[in-house]
Amino acid sequence: MSSKKNLAIFASGNGSNFEAIVKKIKDGTLKADKGLLITNKKDCFARKRAEKYQIKDIFVDPAKYKNRAEYDQKLIEILDKEDINAVVLAGYKLILSPFFIKRFENKILNIHPSLLPRFPGNNAIARAFNSGCRVTGITVHFVDVGVDRGPIIAQEVVPIEKNMGLEELEAEIHQIEHRFYPYVLKLFLEDRLKIKGRDVKII
Ligand code: GRF
Repeated sequence: MSSKKNLAIFASGNGSNFEAIVKKIKDGTLKADKGLLITNKKDCFARKRAEKYQIKDIFVDPAKYKNRAEYDQKLIEILDKEDINAVVLAGYKLILSPFFIKRFENKILNIHPSLLPRFPGNNAIARAFNSGCRVTGITVHFVDVGVDRGPIIAQEVVPIEKNMGLEELEAEIHQIEHRFYPYVLKLFLEDRLKIKGRDVKII
């Protein structure tokens, strides 16, 4: 990545990963020059967290745009104006347009609560839990045009113990995410991730 490290974090809901990242920016662990929250949900809790940490947040209302392409074009305008050069998806519920992904090629990261390529898409934790798998986990990957299919950067395994309930598994996964996502982002911000095809090397 270039020397400038201005991040936009996209979230649509609770925003616990957003907060975990912001804390690490604030305490200097993550060397980002600027953090910004972008959301498509007016009342999402992530916005309250942004307020608490005095992070600029911008709500872009999908209802005001004819289609997703126009919406994503608006997002690009905003990101350009804010001089953003990397995008961190943290529970963002909309699928990005191919031209948006191209514009930020290899500069968009996502976290997904399963061991991809198993259980892409929604309700990944519950689907893994109900599948009889004895392990699931967390994946951080670069975003390409396939949903939850971009090059995998890092994964962490979470065992599904026999006596574990779904809620307990969810809580455990979220707790690990809050440590894991900032850790991977740090590698990214330090320019230590090299992508070659589907392979991501940590140098
Ligand atoms: C996380 O489980 C993340 O893996 C997934 O969406 C969830 C967002 O949670 N992509 P939160 O909004 O960060 O609390």
